[in-house]
Amino acid sequence: MTDQNRRTFLKQAAMGAAVLAYPSATVLAANDRVRVGMIGVGDRGNDLLGQVLKLSNVEVVAMADVYSRRRDQAKSRVPGMQTFDDYRRLLDMKDIDGVIVASPLHVHVRHFIDTLAAGKDLYAEKTMTWSIPDADRCLAAAKSSDRVVQIGLQHESSGALVDAKRLIEDGSVGRVTHVESWMSRNTPHGQGQWVRPVPSDCTAENVDWNAFLNGRPDGAFDPFKLINWRLFWEFSGGNCAENMVHQIAWIISALDLPLPSAAYMSGGVFSEKDGREVPDTIAVTLDFPKDMVVTWQSTFSNKHYELGDRILGSDGTLEHHFGEPIRYWPEKVNRPNGESMTGTTHDQDHMKNWIECMRSRAIPNAPVEIGYRSAIAVHMSNLSYRNKRRITLEEAKALTPEY
Ligand SMILES: NC(=O)c1ccc[n+]([C@@H]2O[C@H](COP(=O)([O-])OP(=O)(O)OC[C@H]3O[C@@H](n4cnc5c(N)ncnc54)[C@H](O)[C@@H]3O)[C@@H](O)[C@H]2O)c1
Repeated sequence: MTDQNRRTFLKQAAMGAAVLAYPSATVLAANDRVRVGMIGVGDRGNDLLGQVLKLSNVEVVAMADVYSRRRDQAKSRVPGMQTFDDYRRLLDMKDIDGVIVASPLHVHVRHFIDTLAAGKDLYAEKTMTWSIPDADRCLAAAKSSDRVVQIGLQHESSGALVDAKRLIEDGSVGRVTHVESWMSRNTPHGQGQWVRPVPSDCTAENVDWNAFLNGRPDGAFDPFKLINWRLFWEFSGGNCAENMVHQIAWIISALDLPLPSAAYMSGGVFSEKDGREVPDTIAVTLDFPKDMVVTWQSTFSNKHYELGDRILGSDGTLEHHFGEPIRYWPEKVNRPNGESMTGTTHDQDHMKNWIECMRSRAIPNAPVEIGYRSAIAVHMSNLSYRNKRRITLEEAKALTPEY
């Protein structure tokens, strides 16, 4: 039986046997080999490649990147893989089941929508999109598709989230009106956070600069911008898109929050005065319906408190540090006999969860809805900062995104 026939047969067998969350055109059996392609294999893409290579019965058969150095690096890790400068050639490959997208933020929308249109399952790095219109388009594309979509919000697979949800649902935390969260980093004097050296082979000959720009007006080839796209608004969403998104997604999931109703963000480029546009010092306030405020603050010039979230309930407090179990303390005024506890649920492997869902057609741990809600929170915050005022959800949706 050919591979395609085998899959068609399995599809028919599975369709008859079970109701699937996401019925698939190419149903994979539990032990079928999964074939994966990757778009954008830079820093994060290389991490994700390592994660996939550790899984059994998964093969990375192709990658696409606009920079020849990245293609050579990937080929040296997986000699058998095909490499492309144009991601559309990768999407043309009929025998790819799923695609991992780890390109810069401003291109996510294109890679997201085209991957689904090509009939592939999708692992899309966070933040899901660069703007609210992009987020709306991606949500609509995912909703009208039967593909499995996992957003690269890996903390959605954490045991801490399972434990936090349980303690919130069983009443141990009580009424929550405020969540505080923070993220902080530092670098040696003179070395800017996020700044990467430009390799000597990063030249106009080795890079498809127009493909990188993806319609942005910037004309001349600029290797610094290709490597350090995070520092510039036209490609980036700053630290809200890089880091707040993980925490806000986790908080939204833990408390089952809808979209924020308003955002206010202050701060500036205070510590990293190296020509970057995106702020290094940030204070965000997000209002949610039903009397809830989430605050997030961030600095790049002190890392003493690193990062964490505190869910402040009338009956108990949850403290969360990424990579660690959740901790709970009762509020003695309301739970005099309550006891402190530390969560016990183990983390799941987020990449493995995607691959398993490709086989089972179940909904993965970070579905498009959480990608969407966390992306909108990021975009509202940045719109507030750039417009220097509090922005409601309705106002944010009406604003035209600016580079
Ligand atoms: N989940 C996480 O913890 C985590 C961590 C780091 C980064 N990320 C996310 O991963 C994404 C990539 O970040 P990074 O640090 O790896 O960036 P990077 O610049 O190191 O890698 C991006 C790669 O995409 C390539 N590229 C650019 N335009 C392209 C195009 N049009 N088509 C194909 N390839 C293209 C670049 O050449 C580069 O190799 C971002 O969205 C970032 O937020 C997620």
